[in-house]
Amino acid sequence: MKIIVTGGAGFIGGNFVHLMVNTYPEDQIICLDKLTYAGNMETLQPVMDKPNFQFVKGDIADRPFVYQLFEDVKPDVVINFAAESHVDRSIEDPGIFLQTNVIGTGVLLDACRKYGIQRYHQVSTDEVYGDLPLDRPDLFFTEETPLHTSSPYSASKASADLLVMAYYRTFKIPATISRCSNNYGPYHFPEKLIPLMIANALNDKPLPVYGKGENVRDWLYVEDHCKAIDLIVRKSRVGEVYNIGGHNERTNLEVVKTVLRELGKSEDLITYVTDRPGHDMRYAIDPTKIHRELGWLPETKFDDGIKKTIQWYLDNKSWWENIISGEYQNYYEKMYANR
Ligand code: NAD
Ligand code: TYD
Repeated sequence: MKIIVTGGAGFIGGNFVHLMVNTYPEDQIICLDKLTYAGNMETLQPVMDKPNFQFVKGDIADRPFVYQLFEDVKPDVVINFAAESHVDRSIEDPGIFLQTNVIGTGVLLDACRKYGIQRYHQVSTDEVYGDLPLDRPDLFFTEETPLHTSSPYSASKASADLLVMAYYRTFKIPATISRCSNNYGPYHFPEKLIPLMIANALNDKPLPVYGKGENVRDWLYVEDHCKAIDLIVRKSRVGEVYNIGGHNERTNLEVVKTVLRELGKSEDLITYVTDRPGHDMRYAIDPTKIHRELGWLPETKFDDGIKKTIQWYLDNKSWWENIISGEYQNYYEKMYANR
């Protein structure tokens, strides 16, 4: 099979590319990535020389470019990870989120329609469901939970999901969607909670916790997410949505304290800062459908996954130190100074 993986130089896409290239030597993996601030060729370095891997730089929202790529490659499968993915950035500047996440998805779907495809898979997020209250631990997101978004990021992802379902129904594009909870693991960009806290703790810098740190996220080790997507693409019926999550709920404060404990650093580094506007309280996935229909279960427990992740950041300092020494400094100043 020829598989186009968009956004493969990012966190989850990068982990997915590694998994595909190593698991399926008979498949051809073509990574299409614009290399925004979040894309990093160093993430792809372990697969660059593999005969079944190819990298193409480009924008999923660039219609002529995407059509030409489809004409050249004739892909059997397209898996769309490419997105602007950070809620805080979407609050600062929503425009690029509409451009990449909505228009870009539309261009990919049009290309699938024009050239034909065996499967289009949209990598979506549990954030399209909005949030759950802290005092109702009995509630979970199912695939039937109405879309109810809070941030420009989640609104753009929900819009893309609606487009995918519309193209499935109207044009019979053989599409699927997965909605996963928060991921953590290697190659995670250090603007997100877990890698940011690891990097700051290692540099003895304050750990900025929004509000009271009581918001709850449902953490999944990135490799478990990648294996779930692989299963959906190869085994599921078309037109289906699958939630992915491992019942691993933690408050932000619990996560931050775990990182500090693992690194032997003091909790005095924790600094409470002004909350994120519109901050979602709790995400919690019900993964019953993907377990029942496809037999998927997460393999990595949070206590093991967080240890592996911290060890990866210790062993790969140059990967994240390169990032935080560049343009990221300006971002950090802008987002966290005087907060
Ligand atoms: P990321 O920000 O780390 O990576 C995004 C990648 O997409 C980067 O390599 C970037 O260069 C590329 N990209 C951005 N705009 C592009 C464009 N216009 N054309 C081509 N490439 C472009 O994101 P991530 O955390 O790896 O998330 C990947 C996908 O998974 C996203 O669709 C996100 O919404 C979804 N998701 C993420 C999480 C999470 O916890 N990180 C959870 C659930 C779902
Ligand atoms: P994040 O990693 O941005 O993922 P998302 O907002 O998509 O869930 O944030 C995870 C949680 O951590 C979220 O509740 C916001 C919080 N947070 C902080 O408290 N401090 C930070 O510096 C960051 C980046 C996030």
